Amino acid sequence: MIRTVTTTPYGDQKPGTSGLRKKVPVFQQKNYAENFIQSIFDSLEGFQGETLVIGGDGRFYNREVIQIAIKMAAANGFGRVLVGRGGILSTPAASNVIRKYKAFGGIVLSASHNPGGPTEDFGIKYNIGNGGPAPEKITDAIFARSKVIDSYKISDVADINLDAEGTQDIDGMTITVIDPVADYAELMESLFDFGAIRKMIEGGFRVVFDAMSAVTGPYAKEIIEKRLGAPKGSVMNFIPLPDFGGHHPDPNLVHARALYETMMAPDAPDFGAASDGDGDRNLVIGRGIFITPSDSLAMLAANAHLAPGYAKGLAGIARSMPTSGAADRVAEKLGIGIYETPTGWKFFGNLLDEGMATICGEESAGTGSNHVREKDGLWAVLLWLNILAVRKESALDIVKNHWATYGRNYYSRHDYEEVDSDAANGLIANLRDQLATLPGKSFGALKVATADDFAYNDPVDHSVSKNQGIRILFEGGSRVVFRLSGTGTSGATLRVYIERFEPDASRHDIETQTALADLIAVAEEIASIKTRTGRTEPSVIT
Ligand code: G6P
Ligand code: ZN
Repeated sequence: MIRTVTTTPYGDQKPGTSGLRKKVPVFQQKNYAENFIQSIFDSLEGFQGETLVIGGDGRFYNREVIQIAIKMAAANGFGRVLVGRGGILSTPAASNVIRKYKAFGGIVLSASHNPGGPTEDFGIKYNIGNGGPAPEKITDAIFARSKVIDSYKISDVADINLDAEGTQDIDGMTITVIDPVADYAELMESLFDFGAIRKMIEGGFRVVFDAMSAVTGPYAKEIIEKRLGAPKGSVMNFIPLPDFGGHHPDPNLVHARALYETMMAPDAPDFGAASDGDGDRNLVIGRGIFITPSDSLAMLAANAHLAPGYAKGLAGIARSMPTSGAADRVAEKLGIGIYETPTGWKFFGNLLDEGMATICGEESAGTGSNHVREKDGLWAVLLWLNILAVRKESALDIVKNHWATYGRNYYSRHDYEEVDSDAANGLIANLRDQLATLPGKSFGALKVATADDFAYNDPVDHSVSKNQGIRILFEGGSRVVFRLSGTGTSGATLRVYIERFEPDASRHDIETQTALADLIAVAEEIASIKTRTGRTEPSVIT
């Protein structure tokens, strides 16, 4: 019942920071998803008879592509597919299932934090056997294959029932529909002291979690309400919807504004958190204090030993280059390694596999550890809860103490979304042209120490990734970084990352944008953002 279908290639199937992301109508073009999936299979070797994990964040078009992927996996010779019930698997849960069942790899259907719906975003990502995103060597091969592909293979069978757990066979391949939550919940229970957290909640500690009508709803309900005993209603927007209820499932201060306001109110709960479309990002807010992702990484690393899964201490910490240096100070104090990688979780894979890093994080609201090979939103929330339960202090006190001990890295990211691509590329090219002349130049009190285009030499496989962002470092440790996003689906998004280190505890309460005002002005002066993009202000400030 295997059919070989003739097809013609598309020229635009280049995976970005995190897989192939396009608008749904692009994916709905004839054979578009089929071409890409076959290009994935054609770029892999040795999967005959092996297991493939398939799941997605439940967004619009998820079920259709899952059916296609299963039938193509059968036709291409996989021995078994594990698929989440309802086609659901959060990104970290998929990573866990791949690892736990020793799968060859996995196909994760998601456009992460981008909106969903008939005219919104969709995505396909391939993960390798360690559970992490495919490295560039594979994504490059997939793209190359997609440009010349002329046929794909698919099993000619009726749609598979994804809504009942159980096993069936098609064309010699076994399909098992699994509970998407059970394995993940068990993993979390093995890492954290659920007893201590439960006791804290019983004692009146209030936690709220906003699943943003996305994939973490069922996971958070099971873990936070059922296993940890938080009262019903603690998990909000817990039903995954194909269009995320019309919202943008990105847990930041713009799209999770209501949560932020709840947490700043006088009667705020003790701890608030949210996750994104596919469950790998996190937003954490203590009563009266938003904790930036860069700070959260540093604070989690400094306190991780309080959770059973990390009681032996950390081997090292890794962060993406644009992430603030707050974690570096923790690594220094702990006497462990610190690694600076390009943006994209895939760059952490080797460091985790080699046991060089235990905890990783990015400014883009991603934190995770060696328990899986993706960042993990709920994991970060649970580690915070575990730390709060052991330290018995408020999140605000933990943050203030951390800054007093290590100093504070004031940090902000300014995004200019849907900028004209030529204008954005021109802006970066202009910065590149200035790299040689910037060092030594002064802008008011700020003097440029070094300037470069970040390149990464992977210490494990020695691959080199160039042009990963323009860094302008000033004397005294402040810096401005410019790069173009690799995850957008229309136009270009310019990201400007601004950071200043303040060791003096008496100056830790300045409003962030005020603390960074000088650097923001210098960024504008060097990059001419306004004239080059026609924008007078960023679309999003985080
Ligand atoms: C995804 C990736 C992250 C990355 C983020 C921002 O979430 O998994 O690793 O940091 O996108 O990427 P961008 O290229 O849009 O700045
Ligand atoms: Zn995501």
